[in-house]
Amino acid sequence: GTGLNSIAGKRGLRFGSAVAWCPPGADRGGVGNPRYTALLERDCGILVAENEMKWQRLRPTPTTFDFERADAIAAYAKAKGMAMRGHTLLWHQTKWMPRWEANHDFGPRPSPTGAAMLTNHIQIVVGRYAPRVTSWDVVNEAVNPDGSGLYETALSRAIGGAEATLDLAFRTARAAAPGAQLVYNDYMSWEPDNARHRAGVLKLLEGFRTRGTPVDALGVQSHLVTQPGGSLTAQQAEWRRFLDAVTAMGYKLVVTEFDVRDNGLPADPAARDRAVADYARAYLDVTLGYPQLREILAWGMTDRYSWIEGFEPRADKALRRPTLYDREFKPKPLHAAVAAALAAA
Ligand code: G3I
Repeated sequence: GTGLNSIAGKRGLRFGSAVAWCPPGADRGGVGNPRYTALLERDCGILVAENEMKWQRLRPTPTTFDFERADAIAAYAKAKGMAMRGHTLLWHQTKWMPRWEANHDFGPRPSPTGAAMLTNHIQIVVGRYAPRVTSWDVVNEAVNPDGSGLYETALSRAIGGAEATLDLAFRTARAAAPGAQLVYNDYMSWEPDNARHRAGVLKLLEGFRTRGTPVDALGVQSHLVTQPGGSLTAQQAEWRRFLDAVTAMGYKLVVTEFDVRDNGLPADPAARDRAVADYARAYLDVTLGYPQLREILAWGMTDRYSWIEGFEPRADKALRRPTLYDREFKPKPLHAAVAAALAAA
């Protein structure tokens, strides 16, 4: 085949993407949209649910689960023979937990109720999607990018603090899925203004090792942001220092949510696409050079459905070009750049 996963396979790598749930025929980046699934089937060997395995979607109330949409995505992956990553067993920030969490009565502290809620959630979700899910984002985005340390939530305060909560999540996941890769996933990236975030993540990863917490890999989200005028060589050197420090601690790497926020670029779409592709290639050449990295997943396949348009809307939608395919499902230079980076890895 000529798809990205076939190219990746020749180097012992795997390529994949996020996918959402959507009803049949919807104009969305989901399993019900055949124009979208055609892209997945061309390029992907592994999928991840964009939102459907988060607490926000799975836990309408403290005592119930709603698996319908997550199951539909897992069933699609199974039907197509694709592997899956799981995202995420704990998005450790109040605003990304279900609304009821902030005011939930967890009882006396340290709270057996809070600990039981977390361990029960992880056992049930991990158990349900074994063995299809081979790698879990056990914890997502626990580190404050401003360098002030770990976030706390109502749940983590009840359990006895963020550190204890994260450790409990990883230990529970290890016991529930001894063969699965356990990942700490975050968005610290190679841009210069990410230095404090990178330092915070390194500190967390060191702590996991000191305490013997079972964490196998760092999920490097890779939501890149173009930096017109910046020095790519300097960014590459900085990024290498970070990945060297992570891998020296024995962690594997996974690129979990790759895309490019095309900020500050020329208005001409062709020039813009070229700049995005070159920026990404400089990043991937460093990142895919690490033998500890075997998988790269895009956070959506087409500009038509990218989360970035909701996050940073543009008056001219045609000038929001963060992904591999354009709004009409045509491959862009970024697709060719990823193919070339995979072939060279
Ligand atoms: O589906 C509802 C819709 O019914 C409702 O009318 C609408 C009104 O707000 O909301 C829709 O849900 C939105 C959902 O995306 C689907 O589009 C949520 O509000 C919105 O919060 C949600 O955003 C997701 C975000 O995570 C928060 O969960 C994005 O799709 C998703 O791409 C993004 O993914 C995150 C990763 O999980 C972690 N790393 C960063 C990445 C990008 O932010």
